[in-house]
Amino acid sequence: MKIHRFDIIDSTNKFLREKIDLEERECAIAKKQTAGKGRRGNNWVSSEGAGLFSFILKEEKDISPEEYMKLPLIVGYSVLKTLKKIENLDYKFKWTNDIYIYDKKLSGILIEKRDENYIIGIGININNLIADELKMIAISLKEITEKSYDIEEIILKVIDEFFIQFDRFKNGDWKDILNEINALNYLFGKKIEVSYGDKIENGIAGDILESGELELFSGDEIKRYNIGEIHIKR
Ligand code: BTN
Repeated sequence: MKIHRFDIIDSTNKFLREKIDLEERECAIAKKQTAGKGRRGNNWVSSEGAGLFSFILKEEKDISPEEYMKLPLIVGYSVLKTLKKIENLDYKFKWTNDIYIYDKKLSGILIEKRDENYIIGIGININNLIADELKMIAISLKEITEKSYDIEEIILKVIDEFFIQFDRFKNGDWKDILNEINALNYLFGKKIEVSYGDKIENGIAGDILESGELELFSGDEIKRYNIGEIHIKR
């Protein structure tokens, strides 16, 4: 497995996106990023001590685009499963692919595609301390356990776990994976607002459906979303 290690880089996703001749599992790991990218054009604060990495999944022609819609869920689930083996804490899965604990974000995922390559970018707050202005919404493993971790070891375990789970998915185990994800569904039963494009919908979040969509109970209607930004209403 090809590993590119950087003390500092703009973004590991950008590095792989711009590189030619990518291999399956090829990965970029950075100690720091100067222009870490989050979803929906957000920045991802990328200070030293966080797990900051991206790796390649090659598109397979016999897997349909609908099936690939489940990729974010499988990646998020793999991060959660890896962390659970390292520290058995009460992690939650926030659709579509964030890991939460104690109502704060521990990990975020950005998946991009270039040609036949999925670039799977993951940020995990591991040994870093969260800046004061983000303390209300984010948390790191070290802040919870007061321990320090081997960051690269966690990163390589996440990648291994992902390929194990992706094989399970390809072998028809999606229902079992989804049941495990739904058992940890952070949004279930919460009052939420879903915004997508210029539309906003309010309701109570339900399960994640077999399609990978989130179910929303809105008045007497049941809606389903495959994308959307979620705000939890308190
Ligand atoms: C999000 O929750 O908005 C997604 C955050 C993804 C951040 C990671 S850090 C490593 C990789 N490189 C990037 O520029 N972004 C991803």
